[in-house]
Amino acid sequence: MIQPLPFSLLINPVAGTPGVVVLPVAGFRRAKAEITGWEGYAPTPLRDLPDLARSAGLGTLRLKDEATRFGLGSFKALGGAYAVANLLTADLARLGVARAAGSAQLSDGSLTHATRDIVVTCATDGNHGRSVAWGARRFHCRCVIFVHETVSQGRVDAIAHYSAEIRRVPGNYDDAVRAAAAAAHENGWFVVSDTSWPGYTETPRDVMQGYRLMADEAADQWIGPPPTHVFIQGGVGGAAAAVSIQMRARFNPAPLLVVVEPDRAACLLASARAGTPTTVPGDLDTLMAGLACGEPSLLAWQELERGADAFMAIPDQSAVDCMRLLARAGIEAGESGVAGLAGCLLAAASPSAASLLGINQTSRVLLFSTEGATDPVLYRQLVAED
Ligand SMILES: Cc1ncc(COP(=O)(O)O)c(C=O)c1O
Repeated sequence: MIQPLPFSLLINPVAGTPGVVVLPVAGFRRAKAEITGWEGYAPTPLRDLPDLARSAGLGTLRLKDEATRFGLGSFKALGGAYAVANLLTADLARLGVARAAGSAQLSDGSLTHATRDIVVTCATDGNHGRSVAWGARRFHCRCVIFVHETVSQGRVDAIAHYSAEIRRVPGNYDDAVRAAAAAAHENGWFVVSDTSWPGYTETPRDVMQGYRLMADEAADQWIGPPPTHVFIQGGVGGAAAAVSIQMRARFNPAPLLVVVEPDRAACLLASARAGTPTTVPGDLDTLMAGLACGEPSLLAWQELERGADAFMAIPDQSAVDCMRLLARAGIEAGESGVAGLAGCLLAAASPSAASLLGINQTSRVLLFSTEGATDPVLYRQLVAED
């Protein structure tokens, strides 16, 4: 098990069915048809963890393991790249080059003459930029990726591997988001952001529709009585919102959804506490690099405001403990990938939190390990036992 560490838990006082349809079902059908047609597509495994369930006092514990997703190491491969394809398809239609190109035609190279001058850009703390860069290469357009000061060189190299131009900017992730948006505005580039804000929702909606496939596969793979709880990590909230929506679409009743964030970047918990989207300022100095976000995504918040049943904020050490726990079970999971597991184990070991969340020996818990060792050097350092 992991050591008992302090954490925050907020039961959502306004939990219920969200009033806004953030991700229309037709959009997901399109995303699923496109992405499952990409070369190299295969569902990632849903791993049963009976020993861990037993020692945590849970009935069932299953982990959707995204380490092998398209060879990119994280679920983000589903989102950014899909949004790049959609964006290019829309632009080629606008230019009168192709009416409805789609990813198959974009990748076969027959439209490269028109796509090679189109530039896509985004900010990233690693995984999203890798997906956008991979998509740009796959669909033959140019790509410029903005990273903030503390994004590790390993993660930058992984993005540059797909021939993207990298620009490092001062500040935190949210500063890089603004830098990418400003450069796009100046140069006529397309922003492929995984976060949304008023007036910018179309592309992040595509990103989230792509993420939904991860939750949809998990629902297909789930055997026996449906899950009672889902613990899912939150950065800007896009992944958690996509999972929330797909759980509601696939299970009735939907499992109780707990959003888990690093305690140094808990903008979704802060938003739930304030009852309105709330920014957490500062350098968001957490080891869980993919979750180091201080501003919730507008679309994600529209879902999670009511769709999430609870919010947790956990310390970095609990993520390290969980990486080691999974490594001992032969599962490679990165810092940001294990936050849901950490939240689940911390809550299960706390009588008051377990009681508030209704967790006990009959609970069937679904978790998403959203990344593998996306920075292998850092991974090795962190899992090395003292
Ligand atoms: C591995 C991993 N898990 C989860 C997340 C959180 O996703 P979101 O920012 O959509 O909440 C990220 C974001 O980068 C990530 O890289």
